[in-house]
Amino acid sequence: MDRALIWLSLVSFFLASVTSEPKAKQQNVDIYSFHINSTVTSRYAITVITSRVANSLDESQEVHFQVKIPKNAFISKFRMTIEGKTYDGIVKQKEEAQQQYSQAVSRGQSAGLVSSVGRTLEEFKTSVTVAALSKVTFELTYEELLKRRLGKYELLINAQPTQPVADFKIDVYIHENRGISFLEVKGGLSTNELTNAITTTRSGPESWVRFYPTREQQKQCEGCGENGLNGDLIIMYDVERSKSKGELRTSQGYFVHYFAPTDVQRIPKNVVFVIDRSGSMQGRKIAQTRLAMLTILGDLSEDDHFGIIIFNGQVDSWKPELLKATQSNVEDAKQFVRQITARGSTDINAAVLKGVEMINRHPQEDSASILILLTDGDPTTGVTNTDKIQNNVKKAIQGKFPLYCLGFGFDVNFEFLKKMAMENDGVARRIYDDSDADQQLQGFYEEVATPLLTDIHISYTGAANVTQTNFSQYYNGSEIVVAGQLTDNSLDLFTNEITATSKSKRMEYHDTIDPTIHSNLPGFEDFIGRLWAYLTVKQLLEKELILKGQEKEAVRKEALDLSLKYDFVTPLTSMVVTKPQEEDIQVAHKPKETGLTEEELEIELFLSENTRGFYFTKPKDRKAPGRNVQPRRWIQNVSPTTTVLNASPVRFLIQAQDQSEPLCYDIPASQRLRLLQDPSSDFSMNGELIESGGTGFSQITIHYKTDLHMTLRTSEIIFSEGQNAVKFLWNQEPTNHETDSVSLILRNKEMDVSMGNTRVVILLHEQDGNSFLWPAVRQRPSTTTLPGLFGTLPVAYTTVTQSRSPKLKIQGQEVRVSKNRATDYSIHSAPRVGCWLVPFQVAMQGELSDFTVPSL
Ligand SMILES: *[C@@H]1O[C@H](CO)[C@@H](O)[C@H](O)[C@H]1NC(C)=O
Ligand SMILES: *[C@@H]1O[C@H](CO)[C@@H](O)[C@H](O)[C@H]1NC(C)=O
Ligand SMILES: *[C@@H]1O[C@H](CO)[C@@H](O)[C@H](O)[C@H]1NC(C)=O
Ligand SMILES: *[C@@H]1O[C@H](CO)[C@@H](O)[C@H](O)[C@H]1NC(C)=O
Repeated sequence: MDRALIWLSLVSFFLASVTSEPKAKQQNVDIYSFHINSTVTSRYAITVITSRVANSLDESQEVHFQVKIPKNAFISKFRMTIEGKTYDGIVKQKEEAQQQYSQAVSRGQSAGLVSSVGRTLEEFKTSVTVAALSKVTFELTYEELLKRRLGKYELLINAQPTQPVADFKIDVYIHENRGISFLEVKGGLSTNELTNAITTTRSGPESWVRFYPTREQQKQCEGCGENGLNGDLIIMYDVERSKSKGELRTSQGYFVHYFAPTDVQRIPKNVVFVIDRSGSMQGRKIAQTRLAMLTILGDLSEDDHFGIIIFNGQVDSWKPELLKATQSNVEDAKQFVRQITARGSTDINAAVLKGVEMINRHPQEDSASILILLTDGDPTTGVTNTDKIQNNVKKAIQGKFPLYCLGFGFDVNFEFLKKMAMENDGVARRIYDDSDADQQLQGFYEEVATPLLTDIHISYTGAANVTQTNFSQYYNGSEIVVAGQLTDNSLDLFTNEITATSKSKRMEYHDTIDPTIHSNLPGFEDFIGRLWAYLTVKQLLEKELILKGQEKEAVRKEALDLSLKYDFVTPLTSMVVTKPQEEDIQVAHKPKETGLTEEELEIELFLSENTRGFYFTKPKDRKAPGRNVQPRRWIQNVSPTTTVLNASPVRFLIQAQDQSEPLCYDIPASQRLRLLQDPSSDFSMNGELIESGGTGFSQITIHYKTDLHMTLRTSEIIFSEGQNAVKFLWNQEPTNHETDSVSLILRNKEMDVSMGNTRVVILLHEQDGNSFLWPAVRQRPSTTTLPGLFGTLPVAYTTVTQSRSPKLKIQGQEVRVSKNRATDYSIHSAPRVGCWLVPFQVAMQGELSDFTVPSL
């Protein structure tokens, strides 16, 4: 084989499993128009993506619509127009939508989902069958309140139409009453030739950004190529602020109040850093933490006081109390930080309590105290019950200062960190385990580096249903936003009062409604109402997290009702899209963030040939953040893949306890699924279902410990350990491969894999000219349920009625089932067996989204 070709196939094999992989261009489909129209009114952004597509084939075919939107946004509308008819997505309660969806799935219909990609985006994906030489228009609307960070707002627009488009336009219109103090356009789409395709017009309170690249230009930006544009446009701006005045707007019975004074002196802070140095932090994470801490320490002001606590099973501090950030203290602390190494367990409780105690012992007058926890794992020693830790911490802090929790990577119990931060007036932030993690840490610190006010209370008269009004601290570069409803839709009684503590004194502010207000934009008159709903839902969802029992239910209900009223796709709702054909149903719901990093994108492979196969290595040195691997573009040109057609679902069997008849359930094709995960031994197996023409997996990956990876495809198997890799072919002579904790046996289209306590056999099936893979778990690492489709134990059920409409009782729930058949692919002969077909949610006691992964 040609060297370059081998290299390419390996690179593409890695990149194929990455979500940011360039999407394939659809054949015989002409996207003749693609418009993105974003309107930002007082930080509230409503974006509409309109894609018009023609099927240029003289037979009907599936046409795809796939776009990425910011995670923070709520989808509020989706519409397809085909042959003059419109099909609108309907927002429903999630459970209800899910039910409709699983019924559709068990009838053999596919479903489209929203999935999380990378740090900031989510992908919305759907498809529809379009008749020969006909057209379809897709229209997606999403809304978000832009948040001010480090002195600016950022509107992120992603464009990846998958082909150059004759009529491509991005229009952004920003209207800010106070005026716009600066506006800048950044992002991958504003590179190279394309800088010329952007025009910016500014006029008083209004700004327009237009991006109209020609077909040729669409191939020329960084990351763009034959498949046209692929990247982000980031519009950054800030609002003109006259000293301490806040900004108040009202419309149709709602108000919004922005408060971000700039003429206040900074308050010296007392900051304690609580840093995890458990074994899992070893390597790059701890190195990046050291790097970030050195910079952060260097940025402290002389009148700040600071402390550093490092912990694993043991809690140590740099100095027993907070010290002033003098040059010599900072130097001494830097020396301490340089020597932090990682090993051992994780005692979060003792470490945080120690931090609280240090702050509590320190004089608090005329200063702002901040506690920052950085951890990459669950509590494993000392108090490990997270409820207890939360209670302890809350009791110790008593609302006196905020606790910020930074969760490093995806092995942390982020929900726990979020709750703990929320309960203590702080926020939790994820630090992505990437080459720029040190900058993420510094970036977070910068946001809280300059406290300007503490104990901010805002009160309103003549208003109701007001969002959060108490804030622990206000930092330079941020902004406080409150929205609410006017009592009796009247301004007569409407007043406000803001009290806060600044460096030396208690401050009081009163804001009035700007008399010079420009009339609202037609079509967006009610944006303040929507903004209020957006903010209220976001805050209710956070509040719900830390409540229990009836209170939780009430808050949930309130958030749900508002989501439904405003058609927001939130974590409590889903959008049901019914397609013209066969009442086919798709459901879009807000995905959970899962363990995906951009790391995979940054793998560079170096190949060398060897008698045993082909070896590749990962470069040890990480590249500068933000640099993309070039070959992506190349692969995109060399190996375009064809797209999904007529996907049919894949049927899975679940063995039953004490019952002869197993259960079975269906999963729509081309999903990426978690198959088995054993956190106790760092074993995980994921798989991707074949897109069409098969009933199993096109690819299965196994990860074990940190550096063992195995990728099985129908063509080949690649096993890599640290720097080395070996390749097997399914039809080669039987062979063994043994290392310390791993044994691989390849025989007769079976790869038998033993890793630690787990043994799985991956079978290659060939049916009607199609080949696919199927995993069979032969030995489980644990006797309890584990995450993943194959992590369940045999299900116990009883038969309620056998008659014409049979019913089973499964996990205490009575469900209608139907008698069906499934193929047992866990053995080579693949026998057909009878089974009870049940909805996925019943079989697996969870949502499909709990079992999907963004990348293998
Ligand atoms: C963008 O949307 C707004 C609101 O619907 C509309 O007034 C405006 O004309 C649109 N702009 C373009 C360029 O389509
Ligand atoms: C707040 O930040 C701005 C720049 O974003 C800076 O000009 C100003 O001096 C800062 N204020 C304080 C009190 O540090
Ligand atoms: C806000 O703070 C005030 C004064 O401490 C208190 O009375 C009020 O209950 C707080 N409101 C909320 C919603 O916590
Ligand atoms: C506040 O919300 C409640 C519940 O939705 C509603 O009944 C009430 O009218 C609202 N108050 C005002 C002043 O609009």
